[in-house]
Amino acid sequence: MEKNLSWHNHSVDQKFRAAIKHQRPCLLWFTGLSGSGKSTIAGVIERRLAARGFHTYLLDGDNVRHGLCRDLGFTAADRVENIRRIGEVGRLMSDAGLVVLTAFISPFRSDRDLVRALLPAGEFIEILVDAPLGECERRDPKGLYKKARAGMIPHFTGIDSPYETPINPTIHLRTDMSPPDACADQVIDHLVHHGFIHQSSKVTHV
Ligand code: ADX
Repeated sequence: MEKNLSWHNHSVDQKFRAAIKHQRPCLLWFTGLSGSGKSTIAGVIERRLAARGFHTYLLDGDNVRHGLCRDLGFTAADRVENIRRIGEVGRLMSDAGLVVLTAFISPFRSDRDLVRALLPAGEFIEILVDAPLGECERRDPKGLYKKARAGMIPHFTGIDSPYETPINPTIHLRTDMSPPDACADQVIDHLVHHGFIHQSSKVTHV
């Protein structure tokens, strides 16, 4: 930790920014195997929230790895750093008053817990996007499981790198049993019932 630094509390704070946006910020943390449906479901939810006038940002694993985390690979150490950076960016974005959605495998429990600890209590919402490995492998939307099975991608989650399932996720989505729209309903209902967003009839077509 740097010594000659101090934290400055600015007068425009999270509460102020959130009030302007008429929402309560949070970090919707989608975790699950590659191909489980994280990006798809997060995308459906973001679109619905944005159409209702809420202020959002979706951080997506593959996209972030093109920029902010382009120097990182898939060793355990690199994945830890990947999630640490996303956690910090997510924290800043929720401090900015946004409803933040993240779609990263984030296979390690300890890393997800570190991100939870970065945010004010209750703002980190862990969402397990759950489909059996066999189903993800059958979907194989990017053809990566096939390559991993052929030994062409080392450290592939679920094949030769572990995925630690959340023990007590806030929301558990079964994407092998429910379509993306129904999973999105489950998350949006949670946000309404816990006061993060209000029911609103205003719909913008985007
Ligand atoms: S994480 O483990 O560090 O959270 P992240 O979500 O950013 O992973 O990236 C996962 C995406 O990278 C996968 O959806 C897949 O497209 C791609 N990928 C490339 N190599 C691997 C690998 N070895 N294991 C898992 N995903 C990989």
